Amino acid sequence: MARRRALVVEADWRMRKLVRTNLEALRLEVVEAVSAEECRAVLDEGPCDLVVVDADLPGGNGWNLVAQLRRTPGVGDLPIIVLVSEPVRARLLRRFQQVGALVKPFGASDLVACVECALAGAADHWPRAAHLHSHTQQEEDQMEELFKKVNRVQDPANLQGLEVKHAPIFHLPEVVKAGEPFALRVTIGQAPHGMEGKHHIEWLDLYAGEVFVAHVLFSPVLPKAEVEVPLVLDESTTLRVTSLCNLHGVWEGTHQVVVQ
Ligand SMILES: [Fe+2]
Repeated sequence: MARRRALVVEADWRMRKLVRTNLEALRLEVVEAVSAEECRAVLDEGPCDLVVVDADLPGGNGWNLVAQLRRTPGVGDLPIIVLVSEPVRARLLRRFQQVGALVKPFGASDLVACVECALAGAADHWPRAAHLHSHTQQEEDQMEELFKKVNRVQDPANLQGLEVKHAPIFHLPEVVKAGEPFALRVTIGQAPHGMEGKHHIEWLDLYAGEVFVAHVLFSPVLPKAEVEVPLVLDESTTLRVTSLCNLHGVWEGTHQVVVQ
């Protein structure tokens, strides 16, 4: 029987070596790539059974690469393991099918458990991130609960209940011209969400279409969860913001931009 083939996309040679050594111990054939471009070239050459991607590829390409792979015919269903630096990102990845996450630094046993799970097609039961030592079990359970569902605004023109303080509000010029920079300001909450130690907005992610644009971490000392991002768009697109309230979970809102 042919050996199963794993593609490791990682710019750091030490991490590549660590992953390769452990995958070869599982009798996998290992192919390496150091960039998103090399990853796509390898996949064009022949099929793989598993892809391991570093989310922190130079240029922030790891996240966009995962989104692109998911949309690529013949590759979209492959199990993908993403190596991430932040535990919150690992939890977000669970929204995608067949994508598991390992928080760096991880041990060989975590990696092996994750790979075995992926190859067994048991991606719905990825091993729990046992290396999140900073949280108690109760805190971990509460965090898991927060990430179980994404709250989406039903009608942006008529916000209801918790939506009023958690919906991303998009502020941008009335006219956006192709190729010309403009400032996008995003505020969390039509009535801005409070920023206190026990209850605050932790972060937001901004996407333009499927392209990841920015990740912003907020400190509770800020007066409100608001950020301004310089953007250049070539064509009309949907802006999407996902954010986390530490008590009320993940919230998502979109805004259609017509580019002239
Ligand atoms: Fe909240």
